[in-house]
Amino acid sequence: MILVTGGAGFIGSNFILDWLAQSAEPVLNLDKLTYAGNPANLASVQDDPRYRFAHGDICDRGLLERLLAGQRPRALLNFAAESHVDRSLHGADDFVRTNVVGTFSLLEEARAYWQALPAPERERFRFLHVSTDEVYGSLGPDDPAFTETTAYAPNSPYAASKAASDHLVRACHHSYGLPTLTTNCSNNYGAYQFPEKLIPLTILNALEGRPLPVYGDGRNVRDWLHVADHCRALREVLERGRPGEVYNVGGRSELPNIEVVRAICALLDELRPRTGGPHAALITFVKDRPGHDRRYAIDCGKIERELGWRARESFDSGLARTVRWYLEHPEWVRAVQTGEYQQWIAANYAQRGAELGANS
Ligand code: NAD
Ligand code: DAU
Repeated sequence: MILVTGGAGFIGSNFILDWLAQSAEPVLNLDKLTYAGNPANLASVQDDPRYRFAHGDICDRGLLERLLAGQRPRALLNFAAESHVDRSLHGADDFVRTNVVGTFSLLEEARAYWQALPAPERERFRFLHVSTDEVYGSLGPDDPAFTETTAYAPNSPYAASKAASDHLVRACHHSYGLPTLTTNCSNNYGAYQFPEKLIPLTILNALEGRPLPVYGDGRNVRDWLHVADHCRALREVLERGRPGEVYNVGGRSELPNIEVVRAICALLDELRPRTGGPHAALITFVKDRPGHDRRYAIDCGKIERELGWRARESFDSGLARTVRWYLEHPEWVRAVQTGEYQQWIAANYAQRGAELGANS
């Protein structure tokens, strides 16, 4: 079996659903269920005997020790993290705790477990750490894309905490030989993404006739990858990646934010026309994110060459699928828009000079 941490979040839940659709191997999901962890994402597998859930914190060393000894996973995949850049700018304590101390705790307990395994199981064990392209910092318009050897230059507290976790993973392999794998991926989008992130926030605000907040001049560039392509990359790296190696994962799909927002508006104009005129009329430029990274771009040549992985979903088709998913899952949306979510939206956007209350 495999042990997944943070499996109730956006990417982790997509990964578990994909995994159980393609493999007979059981999965144990260890998740603290923060605001971003949602068991409803996994409702379709909750009665599947191959799926087990442990409610807990990756910083809890005693729990980790018990789970590893009791379940004897052949691999551990670490998705658990505080993941939202804007939240890290409001206060980074939880980011340091989960992303740095939590990853360290996992490494320590995984190392003790792995060292005690019999030789064939020790050979086979893998620790896969899911990380981000944000550790590499920001690019100018003509800079070459990030490779696995680009120097780390994290700019937000979130990125710094992920960079620290990547370094701990690297050191654990280098010092003790733990068979680690690290992936650094670009911006994901797709079903079950919490609506604090640009794409689901834009879709849901547009449906409610609220302003669509675009930071700064809207020309910051991100590389977009459909979450299903990311999950497939993780499976490939887990099975065939070389221990100790880092793999960049990206969609070769760079776009300025304003174009992403306009593309969502155009899709909604077709699928759910707005009585007050085109959805793009709701676009509102707001105060920029402090230290906002200008551009990310991923050179994913290594994973393409070594593992034969390549993104399959184009941004146009993936975005259309995603918009339709949010339209077709109003109960999921209603359930995540809790009191905590409303408070976050009020605090973050009031500070940016935008009132995101309903327009009509
Ligand atoms: P998410 O915020 O949607 O989910 C994070 C999950 O981790 C939640 O289920 C949460 O409950 C859980 N969690 C948080 N703290 C925990 C703790 N202390 N112990 C146990 N569980 C805890 O995040 P996501 O977008 O699914 O990202 C998953 C991973 O992928 C993160 O490590 C993130 O850095 C990385 N990543 C994300 C993206 C992206 O675009 N979303 C891109 C590249 C890399
Ligand atoms: O690059 C990978 C990273 O992508 C992951 O490591 C992070 O976990 C994930 O959150 C994401 O980080 P970003 O900061 O790029 O994602 P976000 O959706 O918050 O923002 C995308 C871009 O859109 C960014 O340039 C900021 C901008 N933005 C965001 C929000 C929420 C806006 O213009 N308006 C908004 O309201």
